[in-house]
Amino acid sequence: MTVTIVGSQLGDEGKGGVVDLYGDAADVVVRYQGGDNAGHTVVEGDEEYKLSLVPSGAVRGKVGVLGNGCVVNPETLFDEIDALKERGLEPDVRVARRAHVILPYHRVLDGIEEEVKSDSDKEVGTTGRGIGPTYEDKMGRRGIRVGDLLDPEGLREQLEYVVPQKRRLAEDVFGVETGEAFDVDSLYEQYREYGERLAEEDMAIDAGNFLADRLDAGDELMFEGAQGTLIDIDHGNYPYVTSSNPTAGGAATGSGLSPRVVGGGEIVGIVKAYLTRVGSGPLPTELGGVEGDTPGYDEQGAGENEDLAEYIREEGGEYGTVTGRPRRVGWLDVPMLRHSQRANGFTGLAVNHVDVLAGLDEVKVGHSYHLDGEEIFTIPATTERWGRCEPNFKTFDGWDDVDWSAVAEEGYDAIPENARAYLDYLSDELDTDVYAVGVGPGREETVVLNDPFE
Ligand code: GDP
Ligand code: IMO
Ligand code: MG
Repeated sequence: MTVTIVGSQLGDEGKGGVVDLYGDAADVVVRYQGGDNAGHTVVEGDEEYKLSLVPSGAVRGKVGVLGNGCVVNPETLFDEIDALKERGLEPDVRVARRAHVILPYHRVLDGIEEEVKSDSDKEVGTTGRGIGPTYEDKMGRRGIRVGDLLDPEGLREQLEYVVPQKRRLAEDVFGVETGEAFDVDSLYEQYREYGERLAEEDMAIDAGNFLADRLDAGDELMFEGAQGTLIDIDHGNYPYVTSSNPTAGGAATGSGLSPRVVGGGEIVGIVKAYLTRVGSGPLPTELGGVEGDTPGYDEQGAGENEDLAEYIREEGGEYGTVTGRPRRVGWLDVPMLRHSQRANGFTGLAVNHVDVLAGLDEVKVGHSYHLDGEEIFTIPATTERWGRCEPNFKTFDGWDDVDWSAVAEEGYDAIPENARAYLDYLSDELDTDVYAVGVGPGREETVVLNDPFE
């Protein structure tokens, strides 16, 4: 069977930790979209791993697959594999021949476009990893795929077609001087070598067939979504999104298995008990703004709840895994989660960071929105309308800080009563069972109510 892990909010919900939590029963862990824009944390005992491309199952020694829906930067992939090897892991990573390759010019173009947009305050706040430009080339049918790296002649031909176009785009359209990142000869040498390493280490696969064979053999598969539903290119708040489909449908198109396979398994929505966002775009329940990311920060400043936002940011360590930027912080947004539940069809929820909110007198959630004189319960389809939504808050009594490791050991009933009321409310609103409650970053710091593999 399959278990699909999907971010229900804006990324960084703790997906890596949940992949690790349930990963013991999995044989193969598959990333189906995104690239090294992801930063997934796994905490095993005293060891903390931050994974960008290598699927989080590597910490438990599981086979990892980067599916056709991913965009792969071979340089960061090999660096990450080598760094994990130095720490004593033995990552066994296979990469779909159909996955697209991030080249250095994609990163440069990502930076240029953000810079240009910043003149009119329209930058997305990307991770700068070249994600958008690589997916653009995929859709424009001029991308270079992993399989192409293993065919030097074809690779050379493709580079000769595409690189001069990119150079002209950078130089003539954006007026930026280009260097090695736009040089066919040096790109060819570097990427041919990556192809050789992929071949030597037997890493390039036809991922759809590989996964279907593993399923036929009785293996358990886990799909590890990156990013989150509200930054999905289709279901997120465009244009402040990433360029792929983190939503559950992406697990089918991005792996080569059918929607029946994905839908026949479990789909676990990962929820952070409050909200964080890295980058720009609206956030109706935002508590305090972050300069450069929160729209209107220059005029309004951080707002009256800045201290509370700062408190949660510090307690939760809410700084970007990839970029180190402070994350924007807000109360849980339930209209967002209703949207997410519909788009993904969650069969269960893992609610993380319940410990981070402990010690507050009261905890709020955005229960619905007010927009143009109406109360609405899910998010509007345009970002302009979402930006005008005023949340109607519901207030819960806070819960005390307790010995969370002991709570994790004892089980659900040991969770403070007020926190359970919060979780019950969420489960009712989304009509979905809570499978796990995160009460700390470590593998053991989770209250497990249900294992989707069982
Ligand atoms: P991902 O991108 O969804 O995998 O999430 P990140 O790794 O970017 O961010 C989640 C952060 O919160 C990591 O530092 C995790 O170790 C940590 N974390 C995950 N679950 C919990 C939890 O329940 N409580 C606390 N305090 N931290 C958690
Ligand atoms: P994980 O998997 C949080 C955000 C960026 C930016 C937007 C587009 O760790 O949850 P991109 O570089 O993808 O073109 O940036 O998406 N973003 C993330 N935010 N978690 C992530 O990944 C993210 N990956 C991209 O901050 O706003
Ligand atoms: Mg992350």
